[in-house]
Amino acid sequence: MELLRKKVIDEGIVLSNQVLKVDSFLNHQMDPVLMKEVGKEFTRRFADQEVTRVLTIESSGIAPGIMTALELNVPLIFARKQKSLTLKQDIYVEKVFSFTKQESNEITVSKKFMKPTDRVLIIDDFLANGEAAFGLARIVEQAGATVVGIGIVIEKSFQPGRQLLLEAGYRVESLVRIAALDNGTVNFVEE
Ligand code: G4P
Repeated sequence: MELLRKKVIDEGIVLSNQVLKVDSFLNHQMDPVLMKEVGKEFTRRFADQEVTRVLTIESSGIAPGIMTALELNVPLIFARKQKSLTLKQDIYVEKVFSFTKQESNEITVSKKFMKPTDRVLIIDDFLANGEAAFGLARIVEQAGATVVGIGIVIEKSFQPGRQLLLEAGYRVESLVRIAALDNGTVNFVEE
């Protein structure tokens, strides 16, 4: 996706060979024009999947998630990271380990928003080790629903998430794929 690629080149800050900072358009300040295009592109890629729900995780997944849900004309659910006040029996809970933060979070989704007949598109801002995507997929599977695919805004292809998700049988569509973050520059996977 050319607009996104240009944004990454113009505004992305390579913090280390592992981390790309994109807080001017995705992780802190958000660019609504770009997010609208992101929503259209995911919709185009998953148009054949009869999606009934989009699922993401707070907080940075919400912007690309809502724009995709708007285009698909379906609801967006975001998994919460905070402990819910709802009774445990009313929520799906999964543990997600963050390698970046070296901590485990419980993510939760209310049972009332996901049914076995749902065809769920998972959207997230970054794909690194795939922990968040796997946690979201396990929630969909707890509900007896179907994961139709995983849409990622920025994939760090040098980390194992994509490969692990493909091996687990999921369809992964990433709008930009980063091969390496070396010497302060972003190298893209050429497709
Ligand atoms: P994983 O889910 O693929 O295994 O990733 P990981 O545990 O490494 O990521 C934890 C958090 O760090 C996630 O956000 C993820 O989006 C973010 N992240 C991972 N790599 C990068 C990167 O190179 N740059 C930036 N900017 N973020 C990265 P989170 O903790 O859920 O934060 P938020 O959604 O509340 O912003």
